[in-house]
Amino acid sequence: MQGLLNTERLFSMPTPIWYYDMSLFRRTVDAAVKAAEANGITIHYSIKANSEPRILEYMKGKGLGVDCVSGNEVKYSIEQGFDPAKIVFAGVGKSDEEILYAMKAGIGSFNCESLEELVVIEEIAAANDLRANVSLRINPEVDAKTHKFMTTGLEMDKFGIPKKDMARVVEILLHSSHVNFKGLHFHIGSQITDVENVFTNECISANGIVAFFEENGFPVENIDLGGGLGIDYYNPDSHDIPEFELWFSTLRERMKLRPGQKLHVEPGRSLVGQCVSLLSRVIFVKEGENKTFVILDTGMNDLIRPALYHAYHKIENLTASSERLMVYDVVGPICESADVLAVDRVLPVTKRGDILAIRSTGAYGSVMSSSYNMRNPARVVFSDDL
Ligand SMILES: Cc1ncc(COP(=O)(O)O)c(C=O)c1O
Repeated sequence: MQGLLNTERLFSMPTPIWYYDMSLFRRTVDAAVKAAEANGITIHYSIKANSEPRILEYMKGKGLGVDCVSGNEVKYSIEQGFDPAKIVFAGVGKSDEEILYAMKAGIGSFNCESLEELVVIEEIAAANDLRANVSLRINPEVDAKTHKFMTTGLEMDKFGIPKKDMARVVEILLHSSHVNFKGLHFHIGSQITDVENVFTNECISANGIVAFFEENGFPVENIDLGGGLGIDYYNPDSHDIPEFELWFSTLRERMKLRPGQKLHVEPGRSLVGQCVSLLSRVIFVKEGENKTFVILDTGMNDLIRPALYHAYHKIENLTASSERLMVYDVVGPICESADVLAVDRVLPVTKRGDILAIRSTGAYGSVMSSSYNMRNPARVVFSDDL
């Protein structure tokens, strides 16, 4: 594992630990900001990926806005000092309370996901004598070519307004005197690795949808193309910073922008994924009937991605004393058969007390963790503090 600082001190700490490589994190954000500026794109960080205040502080300093999917995320972002005007709020099921709260807070835009929601936003704004900035999330019907639980832009997905309803949306907008139509929003999925092809397809669909609204008298000022850039879970060291330039230049080249139109994106995983490793101690190495199990002091309670999506995370033994290799199933301590972090994984001979690093856990790691089995949360350690 690169960039591991003061290992003696780190390895003396109780595990499990979310270890933040802050140097890599800053280099990642800087690379994204540079590529965004070069292509005239505004970034709203998707805070659902990781809401650690130390990383938010840096992003705020770099001028990023925030993409939220709940009223509490909006509230938390404001508490962390983000300008409400730089907050966008998506989500298929915003409650009336969440809508009113965000409206009063003066967020930049609701990314509205249904006709039903648009009607309710208008009603709430009218009843409270407020105006709401609204962008419409349209389902672009584009295949993100990713895991089925990470695709969001297909006809069968629950997200966004179906294309077939666009004419009805225009009708509703015409009668919505408390809604400021700000633009359009798309998000086709997560962990997209076929960057050029998939995002080109997103742009082709988005161009058609933008043209429809403009032709119907609704100028589209903001075009938000969502998040989705994937990271390399197999080679986190040789591919530590994701392909922001390729992603942003693809969007810039493929979108047919007229003067005055602005492009926005909402990266989550790509900004934080590679910057965190989950460090864990081996409690037992257990010989099963046909398998050898490495049993860790972390499991699906801390990192649910392998159990939820069969997600692959590279695992390294940081304290191995032998170079001889063995095949193991790496499992957690939770009383669930799904609590498996890796199957048939080749590792150096591993023994009780060794420290293993589960790599690329910065996105959708700690935010999805639970106290299931009444386990304590993993501690957080920043490389800057070692
Ligand atoms: C609306 C929206 N925008 C952005 C993102 C961030 O996606 P990613 O972490 O893949 O960049 C998500 C994640 O699911 C999302 O739902």
